[in-house]
Amino acid sequence: MPVEGAIEWRKRAGKISNLEEEIAARPLPPTSVAIGHTRWATHGAPTDQNSHPHVAGRVAIVHNGIIENHDQLRAELGEVEFASETDSEVAAHLMLREVESGKGLVDAMRAVVAKLEGAFTLVAVDAQDPDRIVAARRNSPLVVGVGSNEYFLASDVAAFIAYTRDAIELGQDQIVELTRDGVNVTTFDGAPAETKSFHVDWDLEAAQKQGFDWYMRKEIFEQPKAVSDTLLGRLNDKGELQLDELRMSPELLRRVNKIVIVACGTAFYAGLVAKYAIEHWTRIPCEVELASEFRYRDPIIDPMTLVVTISQSGETADTLMAIRHAREQHAKVIAICNTNGATIPRESDAVIYTHAGPEIGVASTKGFTTQLVACYLLGLYLAQVRGMKYGDEIAALLAELERMPEAIQKMLDAKSTVYDLAEELVDATSVLFLGRHVGYPSALEGALKLKELAYIHAEGFAAGELKHGPIALISQDLPVFVVVPPKGRDQLRDKVISNIAEVRARGARTIVLAEADDEEARAVTDTLIELPKVSTLLQPMVAIIPLQLFACELATVKGHDVDQPRNLAKSVTVE
Ligand code: F6R
Repeated sequence: MPVEGAIEWRKRAGKISNLEEEIAARPLPPTSVAIGHTRWATHGAPTDQNSHPHVAGRVAIVHNGIIENHDQLRAELGEVEFASETDSEVAAHLMLREVESGKGLVDAMRAVVAKLEGAFTLVAVDAQDPDRIVAARRNSPLVVGVGSNEYFLASDVAAFIAYTRDAIELGQDQIVELTRDGVNVTTFDGAPAETKSFHVDWDLEAAQKQGFDWYMRKEIFEQPKAVSDTLLGRLNDKGELQLDELRMSPELLRRVNKIVIVACGTAFYAGLVAKYAIEHWTRIPCEVELASEFRYRDPIIDPMTLVVTISQSGETADTLMAIRHAREQHAKVIAICNTNGATIPRESDAVIYTHAGPEIGVASTKGFTTQLVACYLLGLYLAQVRGMKYGDEIAALLAELERMPEAIQKMLDAKSTVYDLAEELVDATSVLFLGRHVGYPSALEGALKLKELAYIHAEGFAAGELKHGPIALISQDLPVFVVVPPKGRDQLRDKVISNIAEVRARGARTIVLAEADDEEARAVTDTLIELPKVSTLLQPMVAIIPLQLFACELATVKGHDVDQPRNLAKSVTVE
C-alpha cells in the first residue's frame, strides 16, 4: 500500500465484489504491507465514504468497535476536515497528529488509545514507516496469524486460515507491532505483554462450502458430526462424566446455590432449554438472562452463584460485559464457547468448548445444537458431583445423547417435506411458532431464524399464553408451527394438542412437529413433520432441525442472501 511515502487505498460500500471490480479497474501497486476491513457501519450510512480504511494524510486506520466519545474528540480536533460520518475517522486524525509530532507508530497508538472510550480494535499504518503495522485492542477481538515469512491480523482466525493455522492470542488492552523482524506485544502502559500461541484444529476446507449453496445449509447438515464431536472424550475410565477443560473443582461446584445463564440471541434460547434440564437434574435454581440486560439491572449474584455464559463466537460484547460484571461480584463464570482462544473463554474461570468447527453463516445452527449438548453435559456433571443422580441414570442420559446424531440425521433426511413447505409458503407475511416447556425455546429459535433470514414477521409463543392475547393474531391460512412434546409427557402433550385445535378452528394452517405415531397430533395437523422418539428434555435437538431448514429454504426461494442477512454481523462485538 504505501508507495513512495503515500497511502494508496480503494474502498467500496456493499459486497466485496464491488471492491474487486474497483481494484480491477484501478489496480493497487505491489506492496508487502496492507490493511482492510469489512465493516457494518454503526455511525453513518453504509456508503463508500464511511467504509474503511480511513485515511488522514500519511496515516490509514481500520477500526472495529465503537468509539463512544467520538463527538468530543471531533470537537478537540478543531479545524480538521472529516471525510466521513464515522466515529472511526477520529482515530485516523488522532494518529496523524501523534506521528506528525514525531512519535513512532507504536507510541502514537499508545497515545491515541489513551484518549478513546468504548470498544475498539484499531489497526494503523504510516506511509513514512512502510514496513510496520501496529494494532491495539480493547473490548473487541484481535488475533495474530503467524505464517512463514508473513503475519496476519484479524478479528477471527477464519480470516487467515487459508494461510496459516498458527496464531497468537492478544489480551485486553494490548498493542501489537508487526515488522519483518517479528511480532512485539506490549500493554497500553508500555510494559512487555505475555502472549499465548495456539494451533487452530480446523482447516480451510472446513471453512468452505463443500458443494452447498450456503454455508448455513452446510452447517445445518454438519450437525450430526458437530454434536458427536462435542460429545467426544467426555467419559473417564470408570465411565463417569468428565469435563477436562472445566478448570473448576467439584468442591466449588458443590457449594453453588444458584445458576445464572447469560447469553444473546440463539445462545440465549439454548440457555432457556438448559434451565429446564439443569433444574430438573440438579435441583439448583437456574435463571436465564439476556446478556444485554444483565448488568443493567443490578443482578443478585455472589461467590456462591455460578454464572454460565454461552457464546458461539466468544466475542459477543454484551456477553463479555456480563462476564466482567459477574466476576466483579465474585461469582464464578463458566463459558460455553465454540471458538478457541476467544475473549469470552479467556476471561472466564472455566470453559466447556463445543466442537462444532467454524460457523460462517451469520445465522447460528450447529452453534445452537452443540451449545445444547454442552449445557446437557454441564447439567449432568453437576448432578454427578452433587450426587443428585445415580451413575446409571447419568449413563442412560449420556447414551441417549450419543444417539442424537442419528436422530438429527433422520430429520435432515426428511428435508423434502420442509423444502416443499417453504415453496408453498413463499408469500407468507407472518408465521407463528408455538411450544411449551422446552418446545417454547425451540419455537422462539424457529421464529428468530425466519426473521433474520426471510425478513418476515415471525414470533414464538409459549402455547399456554395463546389465550392471554396472541390468539387474536390467528387469521385464515396463517401458518402456525407447533412443537408437540413426546408421547409419555401426556399432560403437557394433551394441552399442546388442544392449542393446535384452537388455532386450527380459527382458520390457521397448522404445521405440526410430533412423533410419527402421535395420532391425536396428526388429527389436528395440516402438515406433519415427524420427529423421532427422544426424551422430552432432548427434543429441541431434533425439533430445531426442520425449523432451521425451513428458514434457510424460504430465504433461498425468496432470493435473499442466506449467509449474510441484511443488517446483521456474525460476531456482535459492540454493545
Ligand atoms: C442468530 C444468531 C445470533 C447469535 C447471538 C450470539 O442466528 O446467530 O442471535 O446467537 O448474536 O452470538 P454468540 O453465540 O457468538 O455470542
